Amino acid sequence: MNLSWCYVSTATPAFDLQRLDELYQSSREFNLTHGISGVLLYSGGRFCQLIEGPAAGMAEVMARVRGCPLHVHLLTLYEEDVPQAAFPSWSLGTASDWRGQRMEVPGDGQLARLTPAQQSACRVLRNFIAWEDAGSPQDFVPTRY
Ligand SMILES: Cc1cc2nc3c(=O)[nH]c(=O)nc-3n(C[C@H](O)[C@H](O)[C@H](O)COP(=O)(O)O)c2cc1C
Repeated sequence: MNLSWCYVSTATPAFDLQRLDELYQSSREFNLTHGISGVLLYSGGRFCQLIEGPAAGMAEVMARVRGCPLHVHLLTLYEEDVPQAAFPSWSLGTASDWRGQRMEVPGDGQLARLTPAQQSACRVLRNFIAWEDAGSPQDFVPTRY
């Protein structure tokens, strides 16, 4: 069984765009060695992440995420046990992976193999990208489905 976790958070002044590559790199290294997969999006001062993996690795990754001073106001949208990860081959996909359709982002038809919460998380990620495409107007308000 895998644990699936989707949240949004707010970047602190300690974060700037130059640190994004570094953040992906250190996160991916950890995720790769712990069987964790997922997506991390950043836009307009907000992060949106879906990460999934075996319970032991997830406990560690969640502690790392929660303890990272680069963000605050972490709001969990979905957290549940799932039979399979939504993006098992991505240690941490980016918005351009998603946009370039390299991620095999589940279309509405393929969403059926995922749990309802995973499907909802995918819609939140999709909406986050649409929000970025719109120039990140005001704040991102995640819609719960
Ligand atoms: C928005 C966000 C997402 C993160 N996602 C992950 C992640 O997927 N995996 C991980 O191991 N750490 C993740 N982290 C934690 C950072 O990788 C880590 O705290 C930071 O790079 C410092 O790493 P260090 O403790 O090795 O110096 C995340 C941090 C933030 C702010």
